[in-house]
Amino acid sequence: MPSVFIKTYGCQMNERDSEAVAAQLVAKGYTLAPSEAVADVVLLNTCSVRDFAERKAIGKMQNIAADVRKNRPNVVLGFMGCMAQSRGQELIDKLPDVDLVLGTQKFHHAADYLDEILSGHRDKIVDVAAEPGSEATIREHLLYGNVARNGDGHRPPLQVTAYVSIMQGCNQRCTFCIVPDTRGEERSRGIADIVSECRQLVSQGVKEITLLGQIVTSYGKRGNVSLAPRGTSGERVGARGILENGLLTPALSSFGEEREKTPFVQLLEAVHEIEGLERIRFTSPHPKGYGDDLIEAYAQLPKLVESAHLPVQSGSDRVLKLMHRGYTRERFLGLIKKLRRARPDIGITTDIIVGFPSETEDDFEQTLSLAHEVEFDNAYLFKYSPRRDTPAAGMPDQVPLKIREQRNHRLLETINEIGKRKYDAFVGRRTQILVEGPSRKNPARMTGRTRCNKIVVFDGSARHRGQLLDVKITRAGSFTLYGDPAIVNL
Ligand code: 5AD
Repeated sequence: MPSVFIKTYGCQMNERDSEAVAAQLVAKGYTLAPSEAVADVVLLNTCSVRDFAERKAIGKMQNIAADVRKNRPNVVLGFMGCMAQSRGQELIDKLPDVDLVLGTQKFHHAADYLDEILSGHRDKIVDVAAEPGSEATIREHLLYGNVARNGDGHRPPLQVTAYVSIMQGCNQRCTFCIVPDTRGEERSRGIADIVSECRQLVSQGVKEITLLGQIVTSYGKRGNVSLAPRGTSGERVGARGILENGLLTPALSSFGEEREKTPFVQLLEAVHEIEGLERIRFTSPHPKGYGDDLIEAYAQLPKLVESAHLPVQSGSDRVLKLMHRGYTRERFLGLIKKLRRARPDIGITTDIIVGFPSETEDDFEQTLSLAHEVEFDNAYLFKYSPRRDTPAAGMPDQVPLKIREQRNHRLLETINEIGKRKYDAFVGRRTQILVEGPSRKNPARMTGRTRCNKIVVFDGSARHRGQLLDVKITRAGSFTLYGDPAIVNL
């Protein structure tokens, strides 16, 4: 059987999609190749969020086509994911070596399409059409890769944490963002379907689940969404009513004013019931969707870890409005306050865009001051990148690259300085970690993660994998903590 190598660019959602495609191919008998140099099929799972991400994937494909194809002309090359979705046929026109272009609603067809290409039945395939129900197809996991079973037919649990896709798409239409185009309209999976996937993962040894979606706080909010178990999709539910599975749909309401629990909080509660599951995370939420019921969930659900990734994008109300974010600086700060009241130890990270069109020095300074005020544990910084067919790309007063770079640099210094202080404050503290496995940088050591999402490296052994361990933090590095389990676990 052929071997496949999948390289992933971009976010956790892309990681998860690649895993589901790999699992699908392994189930069909493919093996996983360690690199593109030896694979029969090379797939690049792409990101479109910034121009840089697109250029990287295109450059990589050009190199692969030049190197790999020269010696092994029958290797199949494909693009999948966001850039495949937004560019479609154009990718093959530009790179004639590419055989397959697979859109974001088509991952579950990967094996069939590859069969057709490898068997010579079809030459090239481009499929980027919308497919209703595709959100429920990202469910296969690769907990074991193609590692052989033990003699007794059981395989040791290799993965302690797992991602579970709960929804796809985004209707928010932030003016800078290409995601509504690449991922389509919001579509959610049913609660029963998600819970059964989580249960299965937990039965295989998974201890921590991260619920994934482009805008998880909008989970189940769209009127055309079915929250019924898998296989009975298609019925419509109104803005409010009783769903087939007994859940009450909430009245659609604005920031923080839900009268009943939102479907997302109902989902968290359902996943929380799973015995043997230790921790629940989710990403990414929209600050606008953080209603009081979700804040309350932090107080009520002990498995929901004290960690939140809350993309703020800017600290200036004027820019937030131009971005179409739907909240003000004050509202964002209010939300942080509420979260810290519910969970004083909560780790808060964010995404920030610098150099959005017309951003002035004064706007930028408001972002700097917001970073100081919130004291983010970490932040992902993005230089604004005009994306085609987005409103911001056509806005006046685009900020020159040089200024975007300078602001990025200044903000990075601030974020690093705040982060250093926050990480240093952990030294001497005792904290719980979930041990994930050997450290990537130094496989002789192990890594775990605190509930507030900080990585802790320590001297441990394979037997620690999957354990909840108390460690004492002995040192803080750059966005990494070092701990000693011996001190508290003798
Ligand atoms: N330019 C720069 N950054 C962007 N992001 C999304 N679109 C753009 C863009 N056009 C960033 C946002 C988002 C993160 C995933 O990517 O900060 O939260």
